[in-house]
Amino acid sequence: RPHLRMHALEGLMLEQVPLAAIADALGTPVWVTGAGTLRSRYRRLEAALAEPSLGASIHYAVKANDHLAILRILSIEGAGADVVSGGEMRRAIEAGIPPARIVFSGVGKSDDELGLALSLSISQINVESREELERLSGLASACGRTARIVLRVNPDIDAGTHAKITTGLADNKFGVAYDEAADLYALAARLPGIEPIGFAVHIGSQINDPAPFRAAYARIADLVRRVREAGQAVSLVDCGGGLGISYRDEIEGSPRALAHAIRVTLGDLGLKLVVEPGRWLVAPAGVLLSRVLLVKQSAGRAPFVVLDAAMNDLLRPSLYEAWHGVVPLSARDAVQPAGPAHLVGPVCETGDTFALDRPLPHLAAGARVAILDTGAYGAVMSSTYNSRPLAAQALVDGSRWTTIRPRQPVEQLWAGELVPDWIAAGET
Ligand code: LLP
Repeated sequence: RPHLRMHALEGLMLEQVPLAAIADALGTPVWVTGAGTLRSRYRRLEAALAEPSLGASIHYAVKANDHLAILRILSIEGAGADVVSGGEMRRAIEAGIPPARIVFSGVGKSDDELGLALSLSISQINVESREELERLSGLASACGRTARIVLRVNPDIDAGTHAKITTGLADNKFGVAYDEAADLYALAARLPGIEPIGFAVHIGSQINDPAPFRAAYARIADLVRRVREAGQAVSLVDCGGGLGISYRDEIEGSPRALAHAIRVTLGDLGLKLVVEPGRWLVAPAGVLLSRVLLVKQSAGRAPFVVLDAAMNDLLRPSLYEAWHGVVPLSARDAVQPAGPAHLVGPVCETGDTFALDRPLPHLAAGARVAILDTGAYGAVMSSTYNSRPLAAQALVDGSRWTTIRPRQPVEQLWAGELVPDWIAAGET
C-alpha cells in the first residue's frame, strides 16, 4: 500500500498526513479517503484501458462511494458514472458528471427513475428484463423520447467470489437469460421509444482472477456476432465492474489483465467499450479510524478488544465475513506484542465483529487503529442502528486534509420523526 506508511514520529500516514492528527481533531470513528491515491489509481486503470484498439471508457460505479467530493475528483479525471437509483443519478449530476456520461443499471427501476433518466437523456439505460423493456418503451413513447438501451445479459459464469456478491450465475436475479438475449434484442429494435445499442455483463465483485471476465466477455462476443449476422446493429458492450483488490494476501486484480481479457474477446468487433469499476478505484484509498473503548479479558480465551466503530459503520465483516487489515495508528497505540484478540464493535449483536482470533499488538483502552481498505462499500453502507450517528468523514490530498462530512449531530437521528399529537398529549 504505497500511499500508507508508518513514520517513526508521526505514526501512520495517509499520503503526507498523519492519521492521528485527523483522529485528534475530529474524534473517532472517522472515515478518511486519500484523493491523491484515488487519482493515481484512476490514472493506472485509464492507462491500461486506453491501449490502442480498446479505448474503453470508465463509468465509476457510484454505489462504492458516493460522496460528492469523490465523484467530483473522478469527474475531473474524466470518469463517467454507473448509477443504480435516481438518487445516485442526481448525485452524479450534482458532482458535475454530464448526463452523456451516465449509465443507469439495476434490476428494478421505478417509473420516476426511468422518467428522470429519459428527461436527462443519459447515455444509456441497462435493461435487465422483458418486463422492464416493455415498461420503458411505454414511458419513452408517452413523453416522445427514445431510450438508448443496453441489454444486460446473464452469462451463467461463476466469478468465484463470495455468494452474496456474485451476480452472473443463471440462478441470480440479474440480467436476461443468455439464450433469450438475441430475441429480446430483436424485440427491443421493434418497440417504440427504444433504440438498442448493445449488451452489458457484470458477473460479480471482488474478482482478482481474469479468467471469469474473459469467459463472460467471450460469450458476449459470440452473442454480438450472432445478432449482427441476423442483421441488427450492435455498437457497444458494457463490460461491468468487479475488479478486485488485495484485502489480505490476494493478488490485486490487474487492470492490464482486465484490458487483455477485453481485447482478446471483444477487441476486434469495432465496439465502443465501457467498464463500471467501483471497488478497485476507491477501496484501497480509504481507512476507518477507530479507538479502543476497553479490552475485555476472559480467562483462558482471547480478549475482546471493543472499538468505538461498529457494524453500523462498517458492515462488510458482519455481512460477508470480509477480512480487513487493522493497524495501530502509532507505536504509542501498540504497547507491546500480544497474542490473538477478537476485535468487536459495541453493537448488541454477536455479528458485530471485525476480526476473530487476529494476532494483534497489545491494544490498551484509548489506543487508536486504522481499519484498512474501507474506501469502497464502507461509509455508503453505514446505518444509524443503535442510534449511532453517522461517523465523520475527512479527505486527505497530499499534505492537506479537511472535513468532508462532520459527524452527524445526534438530534438529526430523530429530526424527521413525527409523534402523532394524541400520542404526544399522553392519551392511552
Ligand atoms: N456494475 C454493476 C452492475 C454492479 O452491480 C456493480 C457492483 C458494479 C458495477 C461495481 O462493482 P465493483 O467494481 O465495485 O466490484 N457491497 C459489496 C459489493 C457489492 C457490489 C454490487 N455491485 C461489498 O462490500 O463487497
